[in-house]
Parts: sequence; C-alpha cells; structure tokens
Amino acid sequence: MKILVINGPNINMLGLREPEIYGSKSYADLLAFIQSAAAEIGVEAECFQSNSEGAIVDAIQAAHGKFDGIVINPAAYTHTSIAVPDAMKAVAIPAVEVHISDVAAREPYRRVSYTREACVKTIAGDGFEGYKTAMRVLANKEW
Ligand code: DQA
Repeated sequence: MKILVINGPNINMLGLREPEIYGSKSYADLLAFIQSAAAEIGVEAECFQSNSEGAIVDAIQAAHGKFDGIVINPAAYTHTSIAVPDAMKAVAIPAVEVHISDVAAREPYRRVSYTREACVKTIAGDGFEGYKTAMRVLANKEW
C-alpha cells in the first residue's frame, strides 16, 4: 500500500515554532518517524510539504492513480481552505486528517475544519504518533 503524507504550511518549522504547542522535534525528525512507522506497519510512505495551498492541491490531484491513501495535516489551511477538500473529494482516495496539537482545545477558529468532511477520520493531539495511527487506519481500513 502506498500512502502520501502531506504536511501544510509551517510544518517545516517544527522544532522552532511554538515548541510548547508542537514540541521540540524538527520536520526532519517527523520524516524519520513517518518512515520508521511506515516500515513497522508495512506500508510505503512518501512525504510532501508545502506552504502553498495551490501546491497542496496539485499534490492531491497528482496522487490519483498513484497512491492508495492520504495522510494530511493541512495545518492552517484546515480552517480556511475549500480547495484542499475539493481536491480530496475529486480524487476520492481514502484520507485521514492529522493534527499534532489538540485543535479542539485551542482558539475557537481552530475548531473549524473544512478538511474533515473529505476524510474518513481525524486524529488530533497525539503529536507525531497521530501520523502512525493514521497510516494504520488506512492500512487496516479502520473506518
Ligand atoms: C496544526 C493545527 C493548526 O491549527 C495549525 O494552523 C498548524 C498545525 C497541528 O498540527 O496541530 O499549523 O495542524
């Protein structure tokens, strides 16, 4: 099974950005974590990160026919983008939404997710571990 892991804006700043919320580990650490988790679960993971909404839409469109599942942390675009879930619905690849922090316990505007309706599941507040759970959900079709 091939899974595309998409991370949105500022996820490349992990380690530096608000460590009290996102922890002290870097984006490189996240990539290493995802690869080792994927190997453990027995799936192939390819990672993509962009700060641009259009590039994320392009990556989702390009996943059609190439990937069996998508793990997506759209970051701030979660709360603003309609184009991202539209692209996800267009390709109809099973997807799981992940947030490192517990978005429900933060500012009210973070409780809105346009991405959620295009996903089979949402995982929030479990740090890096959420990406592993998301890959397992897709591998085992746990929805
Ligand atoms: C985030 C939560 C979002 O609200 C925020 O804009 C992010 C990261 C998370 O992983 O917790 O950039 O998606």
